[in-house]
Amino acid sequence: METIRGANVTLRPAGESDLDLLARWFSDPGVYEWWGGSPLRREVVAEKYVGRRRPAVESLIVEAHGQPVEYIQYHQGFADYHRADEGGIDMFVAPHARRRGFGRDAAGTLVRHLLSERGWSRVTVDPAKNNPSALRFWRECGFQYERDLDSEGPAELLSVVR
Ligand SMILES: CC(C)(COP(=O)(O)OP(=O)(O)OC[C@H]1O[C@@H](n2cnc3c(N)ncnc32)[C@H](O)[C@@H]1OP(=O)(O)O)[C@@H](O)C(=O)NCCC(=O)NCCS
Repeated sequence: METIRGANVTLRPAGESDLDLLARWFSDPGVYEWWGGSPLRREVVAEKYVGRRRPAVESLIVEAHGQPVEYIQYHQGFADYHRADEGGIDMFVAPHARRRGFGRDAAGTLVRHLLSERGWSRVTVDPAKNNPSALRFWRECGFQYERDLDSEGPAELLSVVR
């Protein structure tokens, strides 16, 4: 897994040395509010978010101006609504770095990479119905509504196709 470059952000594989950073992010209410609803224990962060789930799930740290600002992950053929050449992405921007365009830059960069370099034919996201900024955000990134979904509560399935 190589580094992927966007307009103002760089997406690089997350590793063991990112554990402190990710443990800090996942104990921030502004993050876990939209990621499971409660702070994550350090052992859980180590198990799930520093790259140990490769190749099933690819975990990436997004940097802007050399500073980490975001976590983004993708998983191919993960859900029952994915064919083998499709998959989903999930992300959060650190609260201090929101509303500066980093989220859109990183999401757009990763979607282009998955569709053109990795040969995916469809990328999905599943924002919660009660998360209007995420619903708006994904539509601004070019995702289109497919249907309602239950994903740890009422959610929408949105997608971009090649
Ligand atoms: C949803 C989320 C990913 C958006 O990330 P972001 O980096 O803030 O996204 P952007 O900066 O690209 O755009 C967000 C807003 O900032 C605005 N914005 C972008 N650049 C801006 C700038 N330079 N100045 C002012 N506003 C700006 C955008 O127009 C957009 O406005 P809107 O919400 O009124 O439509 C982020 O809020 C987040 O991490 N939320 C919590 C986790 C989450 O919900 N994840 C998605 C789960 S499916």
